[in-house]
Amino acid sequence: MVPRLFGVVRTYPDTLDTVTLALEPLDGPPLAFRAGQFTMLHAFGVGEVPISISGDPTRPDPLLHTVRDVGAVTHALVTAAPGTAVGVRGPFGSGWEVADGTGGDVVVVAGGIGLAPLRPAILEVVSRRSDYGRVVLLYGARSPADILFADDMATWAQRHGIVVEVTVDYGPPGWSGRVGLVTTLVARAGFDPLHSLALVCGPEVMMRYAATALSARGVPDTRIRLSMERNMRCGIGLCGHCQLRELFLCVDGPVLSYDRLAPLLDVREL
Ligand SMILES: Cc1cc2nc3c(=O)[nH]c(=O)nc-3n(C[C@H](O)[C@H](O)[C@H](O)COP(=O)(O)OP(=O)(O)OC[C@H]3O[C@@H](n4cnc5c(N)ncnc54)[C@H](O)[C@@H]3O)c2cc1C
Ligand code: FES
Repeated sequence: MVPRLFGVVRTYPDTLDTVTLALEPLDGPPLAFRAGQFTMLHAFGVGEVPISISGDPTRPDPLLHTVRDVGAVTHALVTAAPGTAVGVRGPFGSGWEVADGTGGDVVVVAGGIGLAPLRPAILEVVSRRSDYGRVVLLYGARSPADILFADDMATWAQRHGIVVEVTVDYGPPGWSGRVGLVTTLVARAGFDPLHSLALVCGPEVMMRYAATALSARGVPDTRIRLSMERNMRCGIGLCGHCQLRELFLCVDGPVLSYDRLAPLLDVREL
């Protein structure tokens, strides 16, 4: 439960409300983590929140987190200047375990800030690109100004042969890209459903539709993985804040397969 001390070494503004923080440990070795895991980030004097790690698992130093400013704690984090000390507990939870997709295709479906928890999985795929077949990233953002990691996506497409499809909810004049829901891209994306691993992260309603569309294409439910969000306090299975029926999402999740989640996602307000 005791946080380690990290210092903010750099901040990268991603969009108007989202910032990536690069943290270095002030008290020991870098924090090893698996793609998909999160930490509890503590802004001293304000509070502590769960945030996924958005950096490269093969290069854990500096430790990257991409944070969207939605309330008191996330605001303190996105406005932390270099030199600020923050507390870090973790890493916690289950990972994407993308190596399970070795030899097959990988389909990534992301909505909004959901691309941040998926970035480590994509970087892992890129680092062992020849282990995988077709790799498809379907990404939906609210507007062109909300698109995260545009440079990364260009590199993944140009250098690593990843098929990247981006769509926005609202396209202003001058936007020549796609407009519409990311879930509609699943039906005609080029991948072999029976031999694919699908990774999904975004708002819960988007994940529900994406998982339904992937399942309808023929991806086995055991091969569709979703990263779930709930309020979290302890991160270690003690407080019960993150409970989803029989699951404690901080230890059983956040990444879970659709065969386990489908019965729970169908229940309203659970
Ligand atoms: C496993 C996990 C990983 C996460 N990864 C990221 C990440 O990589 N980047 C990021 O920006 N955010 C991430 N979040 C969400 C982040 O934890 C919340 O935005 C944060 O707790 C809000 O705290 P606050 O004090 O800033 O705002 P609050 O004042 O607590 O809340 C502001 C708004 O956000 C909503 N909210 C609060 N907590 C959550 C939550 N856990 N999930 C969804 N909505 C919430 C509230 O209902 C309210 O509408 C993650 C959450 C979980 C559980
Ligand atoms: S956050 Fe306390 S049990 Fe999961």
